[in-house]
Formats: sequence, C-alpha cells, structure tokens
Amino acid sequence: MSEESLYDRLGGHDALEALATTTFNNHCKNEVIKNRYANSDSEQVIRKVTEFMCAGFGGKEEYTGDDMLTAHTGMNISEEEFNAVVDDVLKALDTHSAGQKEKDEILAALWSMRPEIVHV
Ligand code: HEM
Repeated sequence: MSEESLYDRLGGHDALEALATTTFNNHCKNEVIKNRYANSDSEQVIRKVTEFMCAGFGGKEEYTGDDMLTAHTGMNISEEEFNAVVDDVLKALDTHSAGQKEKDEILAALWSMRPEIVHV
C-alpha cells in the first residue's frame, strides 16, 4: 500500500508556507532565540524554510538554500536554542491542526538534524 507523502498529508505548498510563517513568527516572540533573527530578512528566511520543508517532505519544489551544516556553522547554537526551535515548530503544527503522526514524523526529522546544527 502506498502512503501519501508528508507534503500531501500536510496540505502541500501553501500549507507549508503558512507553517513556515507561523514558525518564524513564533521564533520572533521566543525570548530564547528571538535575537538570532533580529537582522533577518523574514521573507527570505520563510521562503527558504518553505522550500526546505516542501523538498524534504516529498514535494517537487527545489531547495535553493544552504545545507544545514553550512547554514548554521559558526553560530554556536546551544541545546537550549535547538529545543526552542523545536518547540516553536510543534506549536506551529498545533496552530495549523496537524495530526499526531505528522507531528511525530517532523519531530524525528528535526532531531536527526541536531548534529548539523548544535555547536557547529
Ligand atoms: C532542525 C532545526 C532547524 C532547521 C530545519 C533549520 C533550517 C534553516 C534553514 C532552511 C535556513 C535557511 C538557510 C539559507 O538561507 O540558505 C536556516 C537559517 C537560519 N537558522 Fe536554522 N534551522 C534549524 C535550527 C536552528 C536553530 C536552533 C537556530 C538558532 C536559534 C537557527 C538559526 C538560524 C538562523 C539565524 C538562520 C539565518 C537566518 C537569516 O538568513 O537571516 N536555526 N535554518
């Protein structure tokens, strides 16, 4: 039996763009990490993160940004900051009424990227 991709189960491109936008807005209100995004071009970050999720979750979109190690090298990101980002993503998934199975898959995907992001 073939299973629908995570991309399709979450609602495709526009739903993932909404998820990226809510996540970014959560980061900007999160005391642990908001300073990290103080000088960010929000449209650009949201566009890259949308592409990243679309491509990673089974969509046809191309990701045009840096790989995770390159994007985060030199930032000296802590465990606490990593957990704050994960919290903000899970909160955004709740805001957009994602299912438990989808939340579990995304949590596992985020966790698998931890070594390329924390203290690199
Ligand atoms: C698994 C977790 C994470 C994922 C999937 C992720 C994903 C991304 C992506 C796709 C980009 C864009 C790269 C590009 O523009 O080429 C990015 C940039 C960035 N990330 Fe992460 N990230 C994660 C964790 C974190 C953490 C924990 C922090 C620290 C608070 C962080 C801070 C940043 C910053 C500051 C940028 C640059 C924003 C800018 O261009 O202004 N990220 N991340």
